[in-house]
Amino acid sequence: MKEILVLYYSHYGAVKQMAHLIARGIEQVPGVAARIRTVPEVSAVCETIEKGVPDSGAPYAEFKDLEECCGLALGSPTRFGNMAAPLKHFIDGLGPEWSRGTLAGKPAAVFSSTATMHGGQEVTLVSMMVPLLHHGMLVVGLPYTEPELNSTRSGGTPYGATHVSGTANDRPVSDEEAKLAFALGKRLATVAKKLAA
Ligand SMILES: Cc1cc2nc3c(=O)[nH]c(=O)nc-3n(C[C@H](O)[C@H](O)[C@H](O)COP(=O)(O)O)c2cc1C
Repeated sequence: MKEILVLYYSHYGAVKQMAHLIARGIEQVPGVAARIRTVPEVSAVCETIEKGVPDSGAPYAEFKDLEECCGLALGSPTRFGNMAAPLKHFIDGLGPEWSRGTLAGKPAAVFSSTATMHGGQEVTLVSMMVPLLHHGMLVVGLPYTEPELNSTRSGGTPYGATHVSGTANDRPVSDEEAKLAFALGKRLATVAKKLAA
């Protein structure tokens, strides 16, 4: 069984929901499974150490997850138009993987959530692609043949899947956002399976 790593950070739960929708799309492709992982919080106090295992939810990613998986879906909430620090912190620790080419030639997709409609979804997604390109990953987006890209009144972009969570983080994932997240997972898994064959 080939596996795709769905690696996300989520503080309030919106990106976590998107991660699970993408995982469902991945698992739609026969012979491909999703491996869902998260990253620990980072602290401004350097001496504070997170527990090695979270109390609930997805396990923390280990470097071997990147080696063992044939593709990557990377998700983060927008933080001032950029990815959140815990995910950036994890990526900044990938020097050895970068020099070994662990991710080179593998496909990747990105996903995000913002509080507001024009709060920086696309720029966050593009900023998340940049380190993946440095690692030699092949970035997969969403084509406009997905009808929901034309009809959505909230999230969903050609650069990746997104959700608009509202300023109180209380907006449910819309049908269009869910279908596009599912489509992105399925597309990523289809490409990964072909590349790994
Ligand atoms: C420090 C901080 C910065 C944020 N910056 C933005 C922003 O630039 N644009 C935006 O629309 N939302 C912004 N948000 C809101 C989150 O991106 C949004 O609530 C997201 O859906 C949370 O995802 P989560 O539920 O997975 O944690 C920010 C939130 C925090 C705490």
